Amino acid sequence: MRLRVYRYDGKEEGYDDFTVPDKEGQTVLDALFFIQEELDDSLSFRYSCRGAVCGSCAMLIDKVPRLACRTQVQEVKEEEVDIARYQALEEGKSVSDDHILIEPLPHLEVKKDLVVDMDKFFENYGKIEPWIEAKKGLEKEHLMDPKRVRELEDYTNCIMCAACFGSCPVNGEKEGYLGPAALAKLYRFHKDPRDKRERLYLADHENGWWACDFYTNCRTVCPKDVPPNLGIGNARRELESEEDED
Ligand code: SF4
Ligand code: FES
Repeated sequence: MRLRVYRYDGKEEGYDDFTVPDKEGQTVLDALFFIQEELDDSLSFRYSCRGAVCGSCAMLIDKVPRLACRTQVQEVKEEEVDIARYQALEEGKSVSDDHILIEPLPHLEVKKDLVVDMDKFFENYGKIEPWIEAKKGLEKEHLMDPKRVRELEDYTNCIMCAACFGSCPVNGEKEGYLGPAALAKLYRFHKDPRDKRERLYLADHENGWWACDFYTNCRTVCPKDVPPNLGIGNARRELESEEDED
């Protein structure tokens, strides 16, 4: 299989083609290692766990944000991913049957080749104050109703990979938009019964809940099935009904 890989060295950008031997079960990350070890040791990419846990290896694979360690080379062309296309995800000339196109995630500054600067993503995460402020009177462990835990689980499974951030057309249009992952996490803390704070207001502005246009790309590409679009919709309904009561 041929891989067409985006390259950037701080000055010039372009694409390099590499041929990687076909191997049963080979992931895109394995293929990138083959390139780095056997063909071009200057290729840069990010990874850590190699098991879809750390969230480090998200990149555009044939114009779809995916985890390189979880995506098998042989399956890329077989898998139809139904997402809303916009400029960064357009299937241009460069996607073709005779190679797999590998590029960095959109909306984040490229540092080198496939490595992006995640600061913007984590700054947005920080804005939603992602920690629990415990209610008073809880002197022992914080017991939670298992039903409530199951409700929260969908949102706690996020591995902060930023695939949703790169898939979202609104992130491309609105520089300040908090993005799907931060909003999903804020909704998760809002629903946590151990937390004493009202916090929906942290995103009650034009770059928060109200910026989402419900393309739902976030949910489609999420490797952990987190549904940011559902949390955003619920948060909006709650805010609207609070307004109606006032
Ligand atoms: S919500 Fe999903 S796609 Fe977005 S950062 Fe979390 S794990 Fe990644
Ligand atoms: S290397 Fe950790 S998620 Fe891919």
